[in-house]
Amino acid sequence: MIATERKPMNFSHVKFSADKSKIDLVQLQQLYKNTTFWARSRSLEEIEIAINNSNPVVSAWDNNIMIGCARATSDGIYRAAIWDVVIDPNYQGFGLGRKLVETVITHPLLNRVERIYLTTTNQQKFYEKIGFKENSTTTMVLYNNYPASHDLVNQSQKEEISVIP
Ligand SMILES: CC(C)(COP(=O)(O)OP(=O)(O)OC[C@H]1O[C@@H](n2cnc3c(N)ncnc32)[C@H](O)[C@@H]1OP(=O)(O)O)[C@@H](O)C(=O)NCCC(=O)NCCS
Repeated sequence: MIATERKPMNFSHVKFSADKSKIDLVQLQQLYKNTTFWARSRSLEEIEIAINNSNPVVSAWDNNIMIGCARATSDGIYRAAIWDVVIDPNYQGFGLGRKLVETVITHPLLNRVERIYLTTTNQQKFYEKIGFKENSTTTMVLYNNYPASHDLVNQSQKEEISVIP
C-alpha cells in the first residue's frame, strides 16, 4: 500500500535495504503507477523479471510501506547503469532520493565500477547534485525489435535444411 497522507518532515526512521527478497512486487507496481510516466503500465511479471536480473536493488521503507526503490545492472568493474529511481510523492524533497541513489552507488557490487550511466528525461538537476554529468556524445540506443535468439537459430536451421539436396 502507498501512503496517501502528507507525512511528517522527519524521515530519519526510513530504512534502506539492499535485500532483494524484501521487494514487494505489488507495492512496487503501485509505486511505479503513482510516480512514473515510463513504468506505470508494467505488469507484475515484467517487474519480477527486471528485479531478478538487477543487482543491487535498493528499497526504502517507512515501517512496512515501500516508499522508494532503485535498481542497477552492472559488470561489477567497468560499467553499470542505474534504472527506475522512484520516491513516493509524499516523501519527495527530503533527501531520500539522494540517499537511495547513493546507497546504490556505494553498494559493494558498484563501488569499484569505473562509469555509472543512467537515462533521465526531466531529473538532470537531481542527478547533478549527486555528481552525474550530462553525457550527450557517447550514448546510443536500440529500440529492440530483433527476434529472440532461438528464433534466429530456428531460422538459420531452416535455411541450412532448405539447401540440402
Ligand atoms: C527524482 C526523485 C527520485 C528525487 O527524489 P527526492 O527524494 O525528491 O530528492 P532529494 O530530496 O533527495 O533531492 C536531492 C537534491 O536534489 C535536488 N532536486 C531534487 N529534484 C530536483 C529537481 N527536479 N530539480 C532540481 N533539483 C532537484 C533537491 O533540491 C536536493 O538538493 P540539495 O541536496 O541541495 O538539498 C523523485 O522526485 C521522484 O521519484 N520523481 C519521480 C520519478 C523520477 O522522475 N525518477 C527519476 C527517473 S530518471
